[in-house]
Amino acid sequence: MKTNIKPSIVKNLGLYIHIPFCEKKCDYCNFVSFCKAPNEKNTYVDALKKEIIIQGDAYKDYIIDTIFIGGGTPSCLLDGQILDILQAVKNNFNLDKNAEISIECNPNSITQQKLIEYKHAGINRISIGLQVYNNRLLKLIGRLHNKKQFDNAIKFCKSNGFDNINVDLILGIPTQKLYDVKKELHHLKRLKVKHISAYGLIVEEGTKLSFNLKNGVYNLPSEDLQVKMYDYTNKFLQKHGYFRYEVSNFAKKSFESKHNLKYWTNQEYLGLGLNSSSYCGYERWKNTDNYEEYIHSINNNTLLQLEKEKIDKKAQIEECVMLSLRTSFGLNCNIFKQRFGFDILQSKNVVIKSLIKNDLIKINNNCIVCTDKGFKMLNQVILELIDD
Ligand SMILES: C[S@@+](CC[C@H](N)C(=O)[O-])C[C@H]1O[C@@H](n2cnc3c(N)ncnc32)[C@H](O)[C@@H]1O
Ligand code: SF4
Repeated sequence: MKTNIKPSIVKNLGLYIHIPFCEKKCDYCNFVSFCKAPNEKNTYVDALKKEIIIQGDAYKDYIIDTIFIGGGTPSCLLDGQILDILQAVKNNFNLDKNAEISIECNPNSITQQKLIEYKHAGINRISIGLQVYNNRLLKLIGRLHNKKQFDNAIKFCKSNGFDNINVDLILGIPTQKLYDVKKELHHLKRLKVKHISAYGLIVEEGTKLSFNLKNGVYNLPSEDLQVKMYDYTNKFLQKHGYFRYEVSNFAKKSFESKHNLKYWTNQEYLGLGLNSSSYCGYERWKNTDNYEEYIHSINNNTLLQLEKEKIDKKAQIEECVMLSLRTSFGLNCNIFKQRFGFDILQSKNVVIKSLIKNDLIKINNNCIVCTDKGFKMLNQVILELIDD
């Protein structure tokens, strides 16, 4: 690790590292991931390490305070590869010794040996994709694991000293009942996981789920039932000490994901690997999502950064409103004024009054915060606030 951090370094940066491999594609998922043979994993990790070297040089004025290794399924890399990747990060970036380092894992690919490796590599947060705690529903959405494997994964994590654990859930799976949601939340509470992400199922075009729905193989729960599932989840988790700090994210005190908070609070992050996104110096860009192109360009010491755009002031304002309203801290109007030079409470006075009257937002300590009703109608609230 580099130890001579120059006093001029003041900026923090999050790193997102994309691992595009899965053992099998789940029926609902359209993330950039695919099944590849072990030699392809070696090729990809070699390219990733080259990108880390190139970018480490370009970002030496930054301190890395969060790393998120996501996918795909990072836990399906070969033994030793995560350690290798993080060693390359340590060798080429200024890594804060207290950095939050998270990894996404599937229950069936977490092993004792991998957890020992992750600990050794400095990982301190594990995010496990459970999706649903019901064997029939797991099968229905094409997951490879069962409930028992999830319980074992949690046990392994804890016995290897990982306390900071997130569990991903999906609500609104075809044929899912409110009772299923209640049961799984009680179970997670008993397991004392520190963080829960509860996403509403998105039907992505081109997935097997979308095909099956169109062909009447099964149906989604009614909209009314989906709302009930979300309301129950929200109330249950808050009642049991999980703070909803973002519309879909719940955490015990001080276990919020520092990395994800960067996305919602306009902080800078750099994406490494296939299809990863970056936001830095008021610019956004994406790495190519073409696997062969990625490997080829990196091997020629070139970064294929696409859709590069400068974020002008209008877009910055819109992003600031859009992202901060997703969080329970809301939009801080004092900070907003310092940043953009005008008072949003004044300029949007009429809209804000109407949103308050309709119980969609409230003002807390000069912050605009969504109410429970507002979170459910988030897109409408945002549109009204950013509309010219
Ligand atoms: C990029 S995935 C990777 C996680 C890991 N491979 C796994 O499956 O557990 C991150 C999370 O996105 C969520 N997700 C993926 N596709 C989704 C969809 N169509 N609708 C809602 N959530 C989705 C799942 O909860 C998943 O755990
Ligand atoms: S949900 Fe996770 S395991 Fe399933 S295909 Fe998507 S990234 Fe892969």
